[in-house]
Amino acid sequence: MRPDQSASYPEPSFPVAVAWGVDGQSVRLLDQTLLPEEERYLRLATIEEVAEAIRTLRVRGAPAIGIAAAMGLATVTRRHLSDAGPSVEPRDFVDRVHRDAEVLRGTRPTAVNLGWALDRLEQAFSLGLEQGIEAGVLAMVREAEAIASEDRDMCRLIGEAGAGLIPEEGCGILTHCNAGALATGGIGTALAPVYVAHARGIPVRLFADETRPLLQGARLTAWEAGKVGIPVTLITDGTAASVMAQGLANMVIVGADRVAANGDVANKIGTYGLALLARAHGIPFYVALPRSTFDLGSPTGLSIPIEERDPSEVTTLGGRALAPPGVSVKNPAFDRTPAHLVTAFITDGGILRPPFEPRIRDLLDHGSS
Ligand code: MRU
Repeated sequence: MRPDQSASYPEPSFPVAVAWGVDGQSVRLLDQTLLPEEERYLRLATIEEVAEAIRTLRVRGAPAIGIAAAMGLATVTRRHLSDAGPSVEPRDFVDRVHRDAEVLRGTRPTAVNLGWALDRLEQAFSLGLEQGIEAGVLAMVREAEAIASEDRDMCRLIGEAGAGLIPEEGCGILTHCNAGALATGGIGTALAPVYVAHARGIPVRLFADETRPLLQGARLTAWEAGKVGIPVTLITDGTAASVMAQGLANMVIVGADRVAANGDVANKIGTYGLALLARAHGIPFYVALPRSTFDLGSPTGLSIPIEERDPSEVTTLGGRALAPPGVSVKNPAFDRTPAHLVTAFITDGGILRPPFEPRIRDLLDHGSS
């Protein structure tokens, strides 16, 4: 039987990483640090709570971080306004919004979606302010909602574009970290093509790198893909080469935290190694992302800041020491993959193949590739 090309995906069965709180005064966030053991939702009502959630990876993945920051800033600002009432002092209020935005901006440096979403909110606020403070706040809430729903649509388009790269007879797909529903406002970026292909009846097998040190592949990708019925095989990061050598993985699809104007990719640490392995084994290396993850302000990968995280993430596991006390540790959260190792970008505007620089510019200028 031929796969049904029009088949969609069972969107309601995907976990929702971030949403508006039902009380209208908070953000509802799935605490990803507790997965897969516990599915607990948090109610975040202050800027400090939202910032802490982003910093500690309770919410993570570039698009989801942007959505959480946008909804967080809008919610907190709306509450400030209702607390202040008619006596609100416009100058103090505006200063406070910008201070709160800066707190969120400083939480994680690599994912460009964070600053991009906050810029959009601050711009919407400034424009709305021309009609008064209430209008400014309402404009922020609407902008946050637009960011979330655009991301949901972009994920679907990425899924449909990427599914076309998966052969009808099926294949093994290797992914790294988590670039699925948990990392976005929709069905994910790297996982979206897998979900759409699966819904079309194409037999896919997902190989999920566990992704040291925070194990997003083991804890999150294996969990969410398994939940919607994708056959998943969990592997240690060091197993990727032999899975390729044995012909079990026929392509790699990863997400991105930021892609520079020339196509260099910042993504979870270990991505660069996978790209080299894919090249050595002659298999395609795809990077899936919404247009909000391209950054023309970064000419090459070298301009992308790479977050360094606490050594304890490497030296301990579940409170137990894995290394001698005082050992020197390097713990970058991301690495840079040079554009020449990328076979194609899977975007909401279609598939981008080399030469990347003009095609990325064209996508961002004109809307599709
Ligand atoms: O540190 P994390 O878990 O936020 O890192 C996430 C990734 O590296 C993802 O691949 C990337 O953000 C894309 S998510 C659609």
